[in-house]
Amino acid sequence: MTLIPTTPPNHQLRPSEEMDRREGWPYACEPTGWFQLAWSEEVGPNGVLAAEAFGHQLVACRGEAGDLRVYDAYCPHLGAHLGVGGVMRGDRLACPFHGWEFDAEGRNACIPYSTKVMPNLTLKSWPVREIDGLIVVWHDAAGGEPAWEPLPIDHWVKEFDSSDYFPLFPAGVHLWPSVRLHPQLVVENIVDSAHFQFVHAAAHGSVIIDYGADGHIFRCSQRFDGRKPAQLDMWAFGLGLMLGAFSVDGELTHLEIQATTPLLGQRSALRGSVWVRQDPASPGTMTDRMNALIELQHDQLNNDIPIWENMRYRANAPMAPEEAPAFRALRKWAAQFYPVGEAS
Ligand code: FES
Ligand SMILES: [Fe+2]
Repeated sequence: MTLIPTTPPNHQLRPSEEMDRREGWPYACEPTGWFQLAWSEEVGPNGVLAAEAFGHQLVACRGEAGDLRVYDAYCPHLGAHLGVGGVMRGDRLACPFHGWEFDAEGRNACIPYSTKVMPNLTLKSWPVREIDGLIVVWHDAAGGEPAWEPLPIDHWVKEFDSSDYFPLFPAGVHLWPSVRLHPQLVVENIVDSAHFQFVHAAAHGSVIIDYGADGHIFRCSQRFDGRKPAQLDMWAFGLGLMLGAFSVDGELTHLEIQATTPLLGQRSALRGSVWVRQDPASPGTMTDRMNALIELQHDQLNNDIPIWENMRYRANAPMAPEEAPAFRALRKWAAQFYPVGEAS
């Protein structure tokens, strides 16, 4: 996977890391919800992957039946990182340091040089799901179980059939491993129709044609009145996952999921996943046109990133009447993802 620098060279301004992102930020805790940890193909059959989210070192691994598990990374024995040199031994994750093995529930099931096992010694496991090739974990600062399930794209975009699209991984994905970014900023973009013209060089401003909140989902549809009428339908599933479906002349052209996962302090990992239609004349071939479309989508995030990395959040922003209703509705909806009592 090619990593693009997160900041184009003409944007050199970087706030010091000491500048607290939370100055002006109304919440003390990270949000609750599903957040992307990796792509499914990064944890192949019997695979083990070191990962990171919400200040936790994690290990993702795949059992014999293909089931995915995510645990806190540090071995309860002497503390080795299970994602660095750990392997699957049968259906168990084995530590690289002394070979202790942990079963699907994270329980110690074998100490290779001892007659004893310690089944009460368990790895802390994280709720994990795989949706459309994305591995997502549930984060709740209060330790709660998942309050909702992530659903596949075709639940939201009925005409989406993944076999019509080029395989997502690795051609359609891009990772920005560390961006000074809070996930809510990515989601706020979906109602920010004015920024398309200034940040994304859209020839025409967009018009919000519909928006609304429904539980953990916020949806927004925008119309771009160019040479051909284009529409962008977006759904935010909590603050970690945002789906966009692009249509031109009423026909779906490509889709994207933007996923933001807090790491430590002010930094998040940002992942873009783009599905482009296969060329029916040569299925399985990545054409220049398809490649350009993927690059264009990732570049849109490259345009947002310098804004996000250098901005200071305005919780009580003055807003033009044209932008205020949708923006305020989204911010009101977003408040539900922070632990009760954390809003100031
Ligand atoms: S540190 Fe993992 S087995 Fe010893
Ligand atoms: Fe944007």
